[in-house]
Amino acid sequence: MTAVLAADAVTKQFAKGDEAIVALRELSVNIAEGTFVTILGRSGCGKSTLLNMLAGLTAPSTGEIRYRDRTLTGPDTQIGYLTQHDTLMPWRDVLRNVEMPLEIRGVDKAERRAVATDLVQRVGLAGFEKHYPRELSGGMRRRADSRGCSQGARRRC
Ligand SMILES: Nc1ncnc2c1ncn2[C@@H]1O[C@H](COP(=O)(O)OP(=O)(O)O)[C@@H](O)[C@H]1O
Ligand SMILES: [Mg+2]
Repeated sequence: MTAVLAADAVTKQFAKGDEAIVALRELSVNIAEGTFVTILGRSGCGKSTLLNMLAGLTAPSTGEIRYRDRTLTGPDTQIGYLTQHDTLMPWRDVLRNVEMPLEIRGVDKAERRAVATDLVQRVGLAGFEKHYPRELSGGMRRRADSRGCSQGARRRC
């Protein structure tokens, strides 16, 4: 099966004063197209660090991250990423939060509104378009926050 994402002998080291913290050492993984992969490990073993590197948000100290056989050198709009804590803007309602990534990419208002309305429906938030994050349950916030990932997936369809 084709690997969509791969880590090849990746090591990540952080500097803290005079000390070096090795978050991951020589880790390799291939993630095949169409699969769901779960990474389990004790707290502090490097899960978030690996995820940040696979999303192109942080660079490995040594080794390489590949996305569809090219080296990942930074964030890529093809790669969706859901952070541990939601990143909803408290002053924007649900619809305008979902629209935000498209707004940043310069998509015109009518199109981004149509895409956002569809996405809101697909994650079961129809009727809550005008609600602000503080007016949502934790689960609803997570679904509204999946906007970046949904838009990545949608573009590839
Ligand atoms: N930005 C950073 N600066 C310094 N050390 C970090 C940084 N990010 C993570 N670490 C360290 O790297 C190790 C792995 O962290 P992390 O990937 O967040 O673990 P996990 O997600 O598995 O709980 C920990 O020892 C943590 O303290
Ligand atoms: Mg973590």
